[in-house]
Amino acid sequence: MKLSTKMIHAGVEPDPSTGAIMTPIYQTSTYVQTAPGVHKGYEYARSQNPTRAALETALAHIENGKHGLCFGSGVAATDAVLRLLVPGDEVIAANDMYGGTYRLFTKIFEKMGIRFHFVNMQNAENIRSYINANTKLIWAETPTNPLMNIIDIAALASIARQHNALLCVDNTFATPYLQNPLDLGAHIVLHSATKYLGGHSDVIHGCLIMNDTELREKLYFVQKSVGAVPGPQDCFLVLRGLKTLHVRMDRHCSNGAKIARWLREHPKVGQVYWCGFEDHPGYAIAKKQMRDFGGMMSFTLKDDSPEAAKKVLSSTHLFALAESLGGVESLINHPASMTHASIPREERIKNGLSDSLIRLSVGIEDVEDLIDDLRQAIG
Ligand SMILES: Cc1ncc(COP(=O)(O)O)c(C=O)c1O
Repeated sequence: MKLSTKMIHAGVEPDPSTGAIMTPIYQTSTYVQTAPGVHKGYEYARSQNPTRAALETALAHIENGKHGLCFGSGVAATDAVLRLLVPGDEVIAANDMYGGTYRLFTKIFEKMGIRFHFVNMQNAENIRSYINANTKLIWAETPTNPLMNIIDIAALASIARQHNALLCVDNTFATPYLQNPLDLGAHIVLHSATKYLGGHSDVIHGCLIMNDTELREKLYFVQKSVGAVPGPQDCFLVLRGLKTLHVRMDRHCSNGAKIARWLREHPKVGQVYWCGFEDHPGYAIAKKQMRDFGGMMSFTLKDDSPEAAKKVLSSTHLFALAESLGGVESLINHPASMTHASIPREERIKNGLSDSLIRLSVGIEDVEDLIDDLRQAIG
């Protein structure tokens, strides 16, 4: 099946009990057994749920993986991966990533004896000097949140394999429509399905996809033992979101390209961070590993003051000022005080995330209306 067909059909069978074409929301906590241990594969809904199972299968298909596992949020999925580690293990993570991932690593897992190295991975070779016998996990997002840096997944995967470390790629920004990290050698793909997969800003959800069955068993054990599972209604919403991912992404990409180019020409705009510019340092790698460049971007103003940024952030009408991304509606965000506030200021500034950076999640509205909104807000 081609990708667009998979988005609609993967994992979804008419319901065996009624023929319902849409996977029902199996709102149940348990399942009746005819005798102890005699059941239909479902015992207790923390361990198994048919709505979740349909979504896990669908996610595995669209990421070209064998197994999917769903969680109550993207960070719950991240937490599950980190629980594979033991005290003394080391993680090499990118120095530009979602603030909540950084917070989970430094405020929860560092206390438990896991050591983290935050490294600029724009050149994958940079990680080599941090690798030692304790290195168990390499963690990357690409494009990165919020600076839209590009990391070469195949290059990282080859280094990870040389050193028997796992590579987990957070594919939230690109989505399976634009990039498939497992095909490039990653061991685990993570999504905050809250974003493009759900697509309608009405659900918090996360997932992991992998090929290795032994790894799946370990992560499934974490999923059922820790219990950070999503409810069936949320799984239904993500399943429904997946069916339009490809058409939404096409529009996110075309609107994103027009807005990034328009911003770049604006006399009051400073730097525009979008990986589709031919002079973006990661352009060649993005071209190689992505099918298009997406609708996420960030920019600064020539007046690089927090006040000027705040004025723009409070003046848009269509772009809603809110955390999150990837919904059909456009959002504007101030990473320094919102999504990335949990990263210490010195650390943020050192990695290029200035106080005045503005992030856009370009939605699928009419692009002329979006440009008019930015024009009046930037002034
Ligand atoms: C790239 C990325 N990864 C992970 C997460 C965490 O996902 P969730 O908010 O669903 O827990 C986010 C949330 O913004 C994100 O942007």
